[in-house]
Amino acid sequence: MRQILVAGNWKLNGSKESIQSLVSGINEGMSGVGDKAVAVCPPFVYIPRVADLLSGSEIGLGSQDVASEETGAFTGEVSADMLKEVGCQYAIVGHSERRSIYGERDQDTAAKFAAARAKGLTPILCVGELLEERESGDTENVVARQLDAVIELEGVAALADAVIAYEPVWAIGTGKTASPDQAQAVHAFIRAKVAELDADVASKVQILYGGSVNGGNAAELFAMEDIDGGLIGGASLTPEAFLAICTA
Ligand code: 13P
Repeated sequence: MRQILVAGNWKLNGSKESIQSLVSGINEGMSGVGDKAVAVCPPFVYIPRVADLLSGSEIGLGSQDVASEETGAFTGEVSADMLKEVGCQYAIVGHSERRSIYGERDQDTAAKFAAARAKGLTPILCVGELLEERESGDTENVVARQLDAVIELEGVAALADAVIAYEPVWAIGTGKTASPDQAQAVHAFIRAKVAELDADVASKVQILYGGSVNGGNAAELFAMEDIDGGLIGGASLTPEAFLAICTA
């Protein structure tokens, strides 16, 4: 039985004050979450502060990105070692906003995945198609290509130490959630693709859904056979909205 994971991706949001009330609000509601795992991914600068606020809590902590390099002349980058040192367990890699806005290629994401994993961070590998790719029937090709970049670099066994997040780009921040059947179909495709290479890894790897998840649709999505939780953007920014998903 795979554990459900609900992870909040705060993106470029928050302030010292707002994260304090967000984290304490989430902490207070954790008793209703049951056996789900919960994590938050703040902007880099707030990670140490959130780590302090989370001390003694079972809520996990992750970054929204990570450098593919370990150290040296890479202005603006933050390494996996640094993230480990300030208390992260997870690192999101290959979010569609990194891919589409900052030009991150599949190989860049794979290198970040490798860097995170090498230092004991659990990569949350995001994959997903654009609206035009879905409409042209290319969803599976796109998702397969994004996964293959990681599998080619790291081997399929590496996915045993990772989480996959299927985030159809057309569903992110748009209010247009993939239907449970649409999401399940892609999750099943991902799991079957991994199973062709390693059935054991496929049966264990958590595959999260992301894209306009909220308290009203989370239960139905998480009930699908191959959906093991969610990566949450907008609805992770208030305790009420996030807890409504965590307790769904
Ligand atoms: P929304 O939940 O705001 O659609 O964002 C999803 C997402 O991109 C999480 O990484």
